Amino acid sequence: MTKLGLLLLVGLLFVGCSNQPATILVNGTGFDIDQIAQGQQLYSQYCSSCHGVNGEGQFPSAPTERDATGRFGAPPHNGNGHTWHHGDAMLIEYVRNGGISLSDPVNWYPMPAFGEQLTNDQVMVILAYIKTFWSNEQRARQAEITAAENGVRTNPFQVNPGS
Ligand code: HEC
Repeated sequence: MTKLGLLLLVGLLFVGCSNQPATILVNGTGFDIDQIAQGQQLYSQYCSSCHGVNGEGQFPSAPTERDATGRFGAPPHNGNGHTWHHGDAMLIEYVRNGGISLSDPVNWYPMPAFGEQLTNDQVMVILAYIKTFWSNEQRARQAEITAAENGVRTNPFQVNPGS
């Protein structure tokens, strides 16, 4: 997506509140269009090779099936996937610490841990960009999941302090 395309998309998300700065919330922090464009840049650098340029996943035609090697690939992050079923704290932790695949490489392609390469802010702007793949309804539902999760989970930044 071009920056203009992203601008238009993010602009559309906020129709009806045009006097407000356009932001997307991640873990309680609002990210504006310029920051989301940075997230797009980081996403294309660190995530798109596996999860797809537009979040379509590693095997877009059969995202939830094993391939010939018997493994599941990187899932879609767009509205067809289940990323939006997870709250922000869980998603941040997942990106920082890596996936289930690290302990179960037989069934999964690898999801690396990015906690050493990306700062907390970089992970959050990437997630802000991923949220542009979702519908208004999906974003609203995911915000509820995030709110519920924050009641029971620790702050992700305290799970692995210092890294
Ligand atoms: C080398 C390929 C690869 C790269 C690069 C990669 N992922 Fe993944 N990712 C995977 C695979 C495979 C899975 C599923 C297996 C697992 O969860 O361990 C996954 C799972 C996930 C999940 C959990 C499933 C879901 O949709 O909720 C999230 C979130 C995620 N990745 C985010 C990212 C982000 C953000 C980046 C870039 C910073 C990234 N991944 C880069 C391969 C990758």
